[in-house]
Amino acid sequence: MKDKYGRNIDYMRISVTDRCNLRCRYCMPECGVESMGHDEILRFDEILKIVKIASGLGIENIKITGGEPLVRRDVTSLIGDIKALDGIRKVTLTTNGSLLEGSLKELISAGLDGINMSLDTLDAWKYRELTGGGDVEKVKAAIVKCAGYPGLKTKVNVVSILGFNDDEITSFGQIAAKHEVDVRFIEMMPIGMGREFDTVYQNTVMNCLENRFGKAMPVCGKRGSGPAVYYDFEGFKGKIGFISPLSHRFCEQCNRIRLTAGGLLKPCLQYGGGMDLKAALRCGKSDGALEEMIRTAIFQKPLRHEFCSGGVTGEEARFMSEIGG
Ligand code: 5AD
Ligand code: SF4
Repeated sequence: MKDKYGRNIDYMRISVTDRCNLRCRYCMPECGVESMGHDEILRFDEILKIVKIASGLGIENIKITGGEPLVRRDVTSLIGDIKALDGIRKVTLTTNGSLLEGSLKELISAGLDGINMSLDTLDAWKYRELTGGGDVEKVKAAIVKCAGYPGLKTKVNVVSILGFNDDEITSFGQIAAKHEVDVRFIEMMPIGMGREFDTVYQNTVMNCLENRFGKAMPVCGKRGSGPAVYYDFEGFKGKIGFISPLSHRFCEQCNRIRLTAGGLLKPCLQYGGGMDLKAALRCGKSDGALEEMIRTAIFQKPLRHEFCSGGVTGEEARFMSEIGG
């Protein structure tokens, strides 16, 4: 359905857990955040019910996120069940890739359409530092393995961090050169611990890539269901994408809502509150009443975030692991 500004909202990100096996410094404090109790997070049957109702309102694409979604047991069966719902076209997963080894085959059998792998450095030591102990080789291996499945759309998400990975831009470019994988550079958003880092803006990343790989050619038409803009480089197998919430605000094209692990339906990353669907489900509200809540959340989606103008809503203090990216 359309929101009050006429944007078609057809995409829902669902955080299935706020827990993660890593501790990326811009995402979580080193000591971790106090994670929610098991009965505080939505059960799979509750998530399914919400998706079923939302699909009736035009939600067609689902992204499963976390925390790290693969730390939640049986997430594969949830993916299969969502994929089987009427009106759902695509189910994709955002993961840090470190736990994929054992579950990739089953995920693909369950009908998974795409995987976004978060990887901010290719250097083993830097990766361990940034993630609080992660093993970069596992993620690199997972990328190559995913790229081998033709039906699976594989993307690498690189959050650009000034002074940390700005010397690796062309190395990341090489991944898209050699594999059928899109590499997307994301400007760091000032949310949670992210406020303590500076980002590298799209133009700088692009200059660096063009110096090395030649002129970028914009990819016309829509690719993926999100806000990324894509470019092609001569001889590349994959594309280069940019998600630039700061330098190229894309709110006019925003098509998404977010369901947190705790069952809040949030119309925008930067704004607090949201519809408490968990409370509604657990006090026995009818499907009709739930539909009305989802409809209201979509309709009232804010026009845009105010990160670029320094606007503050209070929500910035929350950690990304709670919201799901
Ligand atoms: N700004 C931009 N991206 C972020 N992510 C986590 N925190 C931030 C932030 N402050 C990314 C993760 C992952 C995705 C879910 O969101 O790296 O790729
Ligand atoms: Fe975990 Fe992703 Fe946050 Fe890193 S960015 S701590 S991998 S949820």
